[in-house]
Order: sequence, then C-alpha cells, then structure tokens
Amino acid sequence: MSLFEFPNHRPRRLRRTPWIREMVTETRLTPANLIWPCFVQEGTDLTTPIPSMPGVERLSIDRLVVAARRATQLGIPAIAVFPATPADKKTAYAEEALNSENLVCRAVRAVKEVVPEIGVICDVALDPYSSHGHDGLLEQGEILNDATVEMLIKQAIVQAAAGCDVIAPSDMMDGRIGAIRRGLDQAGFEHVAIMAYSAKYASAFYGPFRDAVGSSGNLRSGDKRTYQMDPANGDEALREVALDIAEGADTVMVKPGMPYLDIVRRVKEAFGMPTFAYQVSGEYAMIAAAAGNGWLDRDKAVLESLVAFKRAGADGILTYFARDAAKLLQRA
Ligand code: PBG
Repeated sequence: MSLFEFPNHRPRRLRRTPWIREMVTETRLTPANLIWPCFVQEGTDLTTPIPSMPGVERLSIDRLVVAARRATQLGIPAIAVFPATPADKKTAYAEEALNSENLVCRAVRAVKEVVPEIGVICDVALDPYSSHGHDGLLEQGEILNDATVEMLIKQAIVQAAAGCDVIAPSDMMDGRIGAIRRGLDQAGFEHVAIMAYSAKYASAFYGPFRDAVGSSGNLRSGDKRTYQMDPANGDEALREVALDIAEGADTVMVKPGMPYLDIVRRVKEAFGMPTFAYQVSGEYAMIAAAAGNGWLDRDKAVLESLVAFKRAGADGILTYFARDAAKLLQRA
C-alpha cells in the first residue's frame, strides 16, 4: 500500500495560494547562479547584433566594460568572454591564441581594471583563432591531441596573466586539464581555477555561437565529432568527468544544457562536484525565436528553462539570458 493515498493526500492543497507554493518550492534560482557569456569585438563604441541570436550583441571592449558593470549591479557574479577574432588574425596554427595583446586579453584587462569584483572566465580552445574553425591543430585531416595541448597550456597562461579568474578548457582534447593545471601552477597561477567543459557534446546547437565568433564559415561542412562527444552517450560523460576531476578540474560542466539535463543529474550524483551547465546559443535561439514570433511567453520560458537546470543539479548556468533572468528575479 502506498504511503500517499487519496483522499488523505490532496497535493493541490500545497498549490492553492502563492505563499504556500513559495514556501514548499524545492528549487530557488538566484542571479548568483548565473554566468553571462558575452562576445567582444575590435573597435570602440560598437555594438553588432548577431542575427541568429536576436537580442545578443558583440560589444567593443569599452562597451563590454560598461555591460560588465551593469551585470554586477544585477547581481550576476561572473562573465565568460568570447572573442570575435578578425578574419585576418586567424591562421592554420592559431598563433593569435598566444598573443598577450589579443582581443580577449585586452578585454579581460579592461574589465578587471574597471570592474575588479566581477568574475571573469575565459575559454581555452583554438577555434576563435584557427582558419579552419577547429578547436585543435589540424594536420592532414586529423586533430592533433598532444600538440594542441601544448598550445592550450600557453593560451591558459596568457589569459591568466591578463587577469582571468577561471580558465575553461572547451576543446575536449585528452589530458588537457592536468597539463593546463601544471602549466598554470608553474607559471605562478595556482590560484586560477579550472572549469572544465568535461562532457561537451558534438552538438548542432552551437550553430549560432559559431556565427557570433565568425567560425561557422571556416568550419564549413566540417564537424567536431572526433573530439566532442556522441549525443547518444551518457556513461562516457561520467568517464570524461572522472578524468577531468582526477587531473585537477575545480568544477565540471555539461554542454549543451536542456537536451542533456539527465547528464547533469548523473554527474552531480556521481561526483558531488560543483557542476555547471551551458544553455548554449541554439537553445537561446530557439526560445528567442519562438518568443519573437509570439509563440512563447519569453520571460516565463526563460525562468522555467533555468530553474530546470538547477533542479537537475546544476550549481551554475552559463546563459545568454543571464541579464534578462537577473532582472526578472529581482522583480519577483
Ligand atoms: C568553442 C566553444 C563553442 C561553444 C563554447 N566554446 C563552440 C564549439 O565547440 O563549436 C558553444 C557555445 C554556444 O553554442 O553557446 N570551443
């Protein structure tokens, strides 16, 4: 016999009024859970809309600094900065990734100078800088693992020196977390944390991001399936996460988000680590497009999608809706 039987139990009693619903709610989303991914471009006083992400813009560094200040005022603790590298700086071997004066390094220094209290996260991967759009070095059709890792170590050190607080390797090469950790420590950046994109799937939902950083044209019909994960695999995600933790990841990430909330839950339960999830560009585009057509209530869909991440076990969510959500949560 079940413990819960009608009419002793009427679940609707706890849904009758706003105060009681509020009192028994299991999951509370706050701006402190949000990380805002933003795109930076060259120039001054420039804002460039991204057509496949309506409402998201690339900002020149001066405008990014202002936006970062506003984000802190909304209670957003951290931003993840992605550079839209000019096409003429992209090369087969992605050397610009190691330039301490590159766009992302200048952006990080500028933000940290004016808004030192905001957390700054930087991706480590070569795709913003490679002429072929891949995250690693490409040689005769193969993505080289260990040679890429050597570059990623240097990229991480350059970004840490610019002042970023958290290094987020998003490239999915094997062994990169341990190598980057040792590299950072040897360079005196033992305080810089690593947020590993541990279970990152080869997903169609990254399309608009590749438009935003200008890598989709370069990647053309290529895909990243020799390094990013097969969407059909769940157990493998746990092995990827286990490796990254063993190698020194401070926090782990699952990406994309909404189609992979089962993985978020499994990772959280298996490891109890600070677990992040990325509501990626394609997820943003779906909600924004439907709302733009009047097919969805944007505000409600945004908050529902984000609370679902938290319910699944995510401690933090990278989302292009961070500012909208923080405003909605402040009003609530
Ligand atoms: C690059 C990177 C990607 C994203 C974050 N870092 C794209 C990719 O792997 O092709 C996707 C983010 C998004 O779609 O919002 N390593």
